[in-house]
Amino acid sequence: MTKQLQNNLLINAAFSQQTERPPVWMMRQAGRFMKEYWDIKNRYSFLEMCKTPEIAADVTMLPVDLLGVDAAILFSDILVTAEAMGGQLSFEQGVGPRFANPIRNMADAEALQTDVVENLHYVGDAIKVVQQRLQGSIPLVGFAGAPFTVLSYLVEGGSSKDFKRTKLLLHNEPELAHFILQKIADVTVGYLNLQIAAGVDALQLFDSWAQALSWDDYRTFSHQYNAQIISKLNRKGVPVISFCKGSSVFAPLMAEAKPDVVSVDWNADLRNVKDNLPQGVAVQGNLDPFVLYADKKVIKEKILHLFERMRGQDGFIFNLGHGIMPDIPFDNVKYAIEVVKDFRF
Ligand code: CP3
Repeated sequence: MTKQLQNNLLINAAFSQQTERPPVWMMRQAGRFMKEYWDIKNRYSFLEMCKTPEIAADVTMLPVDLLGVDAAILFSDILVTAEAMGGQLSFEQGVGPRFANPIRNMADAEALQTDVVENLHYVGDAIKVVQQRLQGSIPLVGFAGAPFTVLSYLVEGGSSKDFKRTKLLLHNEPELAHFILQKIADVTVGYLNLQIAAGVDALQLFDSWAQALSWDDYRTFSHQYNAQIISKLNRKGVPVISFCKGSSVFAPLMAEAKPDVVSVDWNADLRNVKDNLPQGVAVQGNLDPFVLYADKKVIKEKILHLFERMRGQDGFIFNLGHGIMPDIPFDNVKYAIEVVKDFRF
């Protein structure tokens, strides 16, 4: 069953097997810090790019061809599940994602559809096109948003600084919150299994805004659903990476959901996090993405310091603690990847 990739570093590290060096990829590697991204973006809307398999594949391949990363991540967005469920989604320049019909009451929640995996078939089509282009060279990472993070966008109607409406919902109307979260979780299971069936080699669950939650609320409104999703995946050799901002705190709970890898933000010492996880749970991370604005000398020092901390540890994937910002110099990203690829444990 296990597919033989020419470069299997990411899969081996995800399953805590020994690798000669850490594999490297970066969240938001297919994005706005690349001139070549803008050449495409200037011709289409963001959703058009996601929904046209050839274009999604073109963007997915940019960091593969230009940066030499050890894994590709499918070009898409975490909010496509919410859109498929009935959210009227748009992405506006400088504003980010917006839902024209935010969820504010039970009637709104009831209107969310769950029999929608068919609406997401374009993602499966994009995966197939990417795999034809990759030709087994490196793994392709698929992904979805975790229910709590997706809920926050549906409730706020877009990005939020303080998640005020979301937290009001969790605190004042927990049953309504659970009703929505369960619907998103059900769709996410079908959606990730569609991605496995279409041929992704690994999966990442993005719970970007979990850091807004207290420990107890994280357990009740986030962890529980992530655990449910992970337990229902047809994993068969496809490792699952669980990412959240807040992982420096939540890592032990994240591990209880039984992913293969916990992806850690940049607050904690990665070695300390790993030492406190059960045997066989790998870690991913955790360079502060802002380091990539700094001088090359600093970038190298910070990466090598992280590697010194992780020396002798199987189950380590190099990544950032969060995504690449759009104004980070391309050259610095490329340099960081070269530093990782030159390293040997
Ligand atoms: O990582 C990759 O390169 C793969 C593609 C990818 C995108 N979004 C492309 C994108 C992935 C994995 C995502 C996930 C995503 N989307 C997350 C989780 C990861 C994270 O960063 O925490 C979240 C929270 C979203 C929601 C989202 N989509 C936001 C907040 C925005 C606006 C960002 C901003 O700063 O304006 C988007 C749009 C988006 N998703 C862009 C890209 C390349 C920018 C679209 C554009 O070109 O205008």
